[in-house]
Amino acid sequence: MTDPSRKKVLLGLTGGIAAYKAAELVRRLTERGIEVQVVMTEAACGFITPATLQALSGNPVFTDMWDTRVASGMAHIELSRGTDAIVVAPATADFIAKLVHGLADDLLSTLALARECPLLVAPAMNRQMWDHPATQRNIAQIKRDGVIVLGPASGDQACGEVGMGRMIEAEEIAEAVSAFLAPKLLAGARVLITAGPTFEPIDAVRGITNRSSGKMGYAVARAALEAGAEVTLISGPVSLPAPAGAKVTQVETAAQMFEAVKRHVARTDIYIGVAAVADYRVDKPRQHKIKKTVEPQLQLKLVPNPDILGWVAARPKPPFCAGFAAESRNLDAYADQKRRRKNVQLMVANLAQQAIGADDNEVTLLDDAGTHRLERAPKEVVARQIIAHIAKLYGAKRRKAK
Ligand code: CTP
Repeated sequence: MTDPSRKKVLLGLTGGIAAYKAAELVRRLTERGIEVQVVMTEAACGFITPATLQALSGNPVFTDMWDTRVASGMAHIELSRGTDAIVVAPATADFIAKLVHGLADDLLSTLALARECPLLVAPAMNRQMWDHPATQRNIAQIKRDGVIVLGPASGDQACGEVGMGRMIEAEEIAEAVSAFLAPKLLAGARVLITAGPTFEPIDAVRGITNRSSGKMGYAVARAALEAGAEVTLISGPVSLPAPAGAKVTQVETAAQMFEAVKRHVARTDIYIGVAAVADYRVDKPRQHKIKKTVEPQLQLKLVPNPDILGWVAARPKPPFCAGFAAESRNLDAYADQKRRRKNVQLMVANLAQQAIGADDNEVTLLDDAGTHRLERAPKEVVARQIIAHIAKLYGAKRRKAK
């Protein structure tokens, strides 16, 4: 199943030192499955070469109004047709001033004026230029004109000064752009997600855990946020940044995860169990470190943990429930058995050896209608497809309930 909703962004670069971050931005956008067409001003080409951006975006870079590669000879109009958004990063003080006045003396400013799609800009400039009343007036004006302004941030500047005006990081721009482009399929829905491993203590310093990195669960949380959902994320121990906009509760053990789920479940429309919850915990973990001189042989007694997903799905009025099944073989059969046993509407199945810790994933969706195989793709992309599928099933469930 390929992603039919591949988004297209025209990325404009103007002449500022932050242009070097645009190379990273192209990577971040393409990783999210967004097609990028780069347009550069002449000044931008003084900071970074079109060849670099062409190689990263996989598309020819345009810099000139009179480029004969555009069949109609009207690059200033044609390049933005079919584009979902124009993103200008970095946007200099000069470029922002041109937007205010509708000046169109080069390809990028003309595209910005002749566009039919939304425009997002990430300002980048020295702090005095940013603080100048003219720039502040211009920023206020472009906001009134409907331009979305991303940043800037405060911090060290290339000129050696410290202050407001540096461009926000490529990752933050990519996140904001993909959130902006995502269809709001889950607007208003309250989504509860578990992610990461659990850690079951043996003693004061040791424990039992698993290799789950949390990447898939965090990507699902971000995709749900992009789709307009209100997201609560209950996370086991991982080293990942919290998805912006999610309410995050950190837990360690399966018991703590269960308690956190119990606290939130009544206010949940959709529950997605991505966490690799330990099936067993140590009975009576020791308060102090076990000493091998005292206990040369050690036997641990393991007792089963509660099945959190199973419990949520068995509530009198359960939310829509989706689970993840990591199998090492017989993927479809085992995952479908799990789906029926836990009585959940959707089971996302993947091969544990391919998924755990990786940045890519290949999953199969199992629901009442059957099996849907998704192509191997970055977890971000897979997460968005899973959320789109959940939105479809959830919408159908709600229509039936009415
Ligand atoms: N899950 C849960 N609580 C548990 C164990 C798992 O909520 N105590 C959830 C996971 O978040 C995931 C799904 O159930 O959504 C995984 O199902 P499970 O049967 O536990 O998978 P495995 O541990 O892989 O099961 P098995 O050992 O039978 O393969």
